Amino acid sequence: MELNLKGKVALVTGGGQGVGRAICKELAAEGVKVVVNDLFPERAEAVAKEIRDAGGEAVASPGDITKADSVNALVAKGRDAFGPITILVNNAGVTPERRAKGGMPPTFIETPDREMHQTVELNVYGTMYCCRAVLPDMVGKKWGRIISIASEAGRVGEARLAAYSGAKAAIIGLTKALAKEHGRDRVTANVVVLGAVSHEGIAPNQATSADATPENNERLAKMLNAYPSAKGLGRLSRPEDVSGIVTFLASDRAAFVTGQHVGASGGYAMP
Ligand SMILES: NC(=O)c1ccc[n+]([C@@H]2O[C@H](COP(=O)([O-])OP(=O)(O)OC[C@H]3O[C@@H](n4cnc5c(N)ncnc54)[C@H](O)[C@@H]3O)[C@@H](O)[C@H]2O)c1
Repeated sequence: MELNLKGKVALVTGGGQGVGRAICKELAAEGVKVVVNDLFPERAEAVAKEIRDAGGEAVASPGDITKADSVNALVAKGRDAFGPITILVNNAGVTPERRAKGGMPPTFIETPDREMHQTVELNVYGTMYCCRAVLPDMVGKKWGRIISIASEAGRVGEARLAAYSGAKAAIIGLTKALAKEHGRDRVTANVVVLGAVSHEGIAPNQATSADATPENNERLAKMLNAYPSAKGLGRLSRPEDVSGIVTFLASDRAAFVTGQHVGASGGYAMP
């Protein structure tokens, strides 16, 4: 299938590990010039180098996406390197830290202000700032793709993840509004919705194994147990389950798909 992505320029936020890293690599393999963002410069640089070593084109543009000034600067760096950014992947987002006590996140009542703010700042403001920074070039080019990564928590809600669920749901509302506002500019906006993903940042033992089966990792077995549909498919998600659908949505083959939230969660929710 011809995706017609060669030469396009993409910015991937939080591209320094896990899902974002896989997205960077798959886009680059399709000939996209990738601006790899991460809060940690060494992570962004390592992924950009990985892509260049494999023959692709990438530049690291680290920075904190929760700050508008920093977003404008990191977008400018990417633009200087490769030209206008017309594919934006809003991937940076962190599941709230689990507390030592029982390994469970806090209930909503117990959630400190700081944690609520961090969750909203990263998932909501970070996504808004990045969209706002790249949209003028997309409008100017009359072509653009905004693809944001959410969680099933944002579609069906999860206990002990209320702030995160709300923040991810906000991304879906934002996406639908942008899809309506910029459809006439041939800019599409979509969300890819994930369940639990096993990757190098979460379960290092799994990163190099062929599959995430309950037999080879006790922790993953517990997680898998909480996902009845993933149990049916026999494994948790892998970053490559996400990067494929993101790459498709970035392509011309998905030109008529906009304002949608697509589950890549092994059927965790079927809304
Ligand atoms: N891993 C899962 O099980 C899972 C499940 C559902 C949804 N998601 C979503 O998928 C996306 C990727 O998840 P992941 O597991 O690969 O995440 P991760 O935590 O492994 O990686 C996220 C990257 O984002 C970077 N980052 C954090 N704050 C940043 C900031 N302010 N500015 C720039 N970069 C920043 C981190 O440094 C990190 O490298 C997130 O949006 C997450 O909410 C993940």
